Amino acid sequence: MATFYPLIRNGGGSLFLILLSWVFLVSSLLCVLGRPATFEQDFRATWSESHIRHTDQGRTIQLMLDRSSGCGFASKVKYMFGRVSMKIKLVPGDSAGTVTAFYMNSDTDSVRDELDFEFLGNRSGQPYTVQTNVYAHGKGDREQRVNLWFDPSADFHTYTILWNHKHIVFSVDDFPIRVYKNNEAKGVPYPKMQAMGVYSTLWEADNWATRGGLEKIDWSKAPFNAYYKDFDIEGCSVPGPASCASNPSNWWEGAAYQELSAIQARRYRWVRINHVVYDYCQDKSRFPVTPPECLAGI
Ligand SMILES: *[C@@H]1O[C@H](CO)[C@@H](O)[C@H](O)[C@H]1NC(C)=O
Repeated sequence: MATFYPLIRNGGGSLFLILLSWVFLVSSLLCVLGRPATFEQDFRATWSESHIRHTDQGRTIQLMLDRSSGCGFASKVKYMFGRVSMKIKLVPGDSAGTVTAFYMNSDTDSVRDELDFEFLGNRSGQPYTVQTNVYAHGKGDREQRVNLWFDPSADFHTYTILWNHKHIVFSVDDFPIRVYKNNEAKGVPYPKMQAMGVYSTLWEADNWATRGGLEKIDWSKAPFNAYYKDFDIEGCSVPGPASCASNPSNWWEGAAYQELSAIQARRYRWVRINHVVYDYCQDKSRFPVTPPECLAGI
């Protein structure tokens, strides 16, 4: 009898722990978006709704830029870590001076975190440029530019941002074009304290976008249209259980997502060697002192 109560207490304790871990598991599963995102349910217009059209029974979204306005949309909630992707067909033909963006943003003024894809239009027949940037704890200035190896206005292509505790990977059709590693241990800021919303906009930026602003937008070609479909968001929605973001069993934190696979690493090297046209890490006139995340071995 003397050992009876302690046994019960132990047994009850582990049962309680098992129950508790189930509650955590289920609640963390619930906060992970478990279905394909749809525009209707997961996004809202944020700028000039009159320039946003739904076609193909709401499956495809068309953004329009004309003399009067550009436009944009955003996710209804924010996400903490995860993977966001969408298929985009960019403005065709003479798109010089237009910028189509797909980004994540904490929407906090002073200590903004932001992960950007910006598609810089070009004159007909000239390559589109994709600019990526990473803001961590309010500091950006980390632009890289890649010229695309296909015409992104001829068809839909998939653009993806993977964000976990280890790194942030920007990909174009499963080709990583940028990797920003978590090097907090070496003093490099890393976005991990704030949830970020998912945004897209189409606007005019002919003062800088194409050949540094030399190529102006040709309004006789307006309206300019970009198309979106197959929205996919998997992440911890905020508001939601705080335990979700730190749950190591979220699939995007798994071993396969903590570093590039051999195939991805090969593709990334190919992009770096053949398609990078600008890298802030190499820009000595802007950064006489090399930013810490650019140092070899990081
Ligand atoms: C536009 O085309 C020119 C000429 O090929 C190229 O130098 C430039 O990188 C392209 N992209 C932008 C955004 O200017």
